[in-house]
Amino acid sequence: MSNKSAETAYPIHELIKNRWSPRAFADKPVALDVIKSVLEAARWAASCFNEQPWRFIVGIKGQNDSYTGILNSMVEFNQKWAQNAPVLILACGKKVFTHNQKPNRHFSYDVGQAAASLSLQAMAENLYVHQMAGFSPDKAREFFDIPEDYEAITTMAMGYLGDPDILDEKSKASELGTRTRRPLSEICFGDGWEKAL
Ligand SMILES: Cc1cc2nc3c(=O)[nH]c(=O)nc-3n(C[C@H](O)[C@H](O)[C@H](O)COP(=O)(O)O)c2cc1C
Repeated sequence: MSNKSAETAYPIHELIKNRWSPRAFADKPVALDVIKSVLEAARWAASCFNEQPWRFIVGIKGQNDSYTGILNSMVEFNQKWAQNAPVLILACGKKVFTHNQKPNRHFSYDVGQAAASLSLQAMAENLYVHQMAGFSPDKAREFFDIPEDYEAITTMAMGYLGDPDILDEKSKASELGTRTRRPLSEICFGDGWEKAL
């Protein structure tokens, strides 16, 4: 268990409580079967019309060019720490429904749900996932030849927890800092908008 475990107001499942987004990853590879389990969890997420709009490109350090492609698409700040992760993932979504080619308003929402399942399955394997919006979808599209009706949504770094000392001072401070959340009363309403439950 990490010392970044959430200080929750009400009891929640250990996997959710312990999940967080580290930047220091250990120099330790992840077995392919374990990576596939994590992706399998994403596969079983709910989605609008059961479209399953998610697509994942998986880069494994030292093993495929996808790793370099995903890393190079990231902004410099993210590249700096994400290059320590043994696995990089690019999450894409199909923007239209397969059955009628009409826009799927919830494709991004569905990819997010799959990413949440992926992150929790990773936790069950003692792996941590750090998602990143800081990348260039255009660079990713060019490198991976992503078709027009798909959108590159996020990149992710995944691996075992590493030593915060490998980070620069600012990232190290954030790595060791306390996680914060809005109070439940600010995000959850009862008898009308902003009325307490
Ligand atoms: C869609 C998305 C984009 C994010 N983009 C970045 C990013 O580009 N760089 C980064 O260091 N963290 C990024 N994060 C991580 C968030 O900052 C982090 O999840 C948030 O601060 C909450 O911390 P926790 O995940 O440790 O609970 C992103 C997270 C999500 C879900």
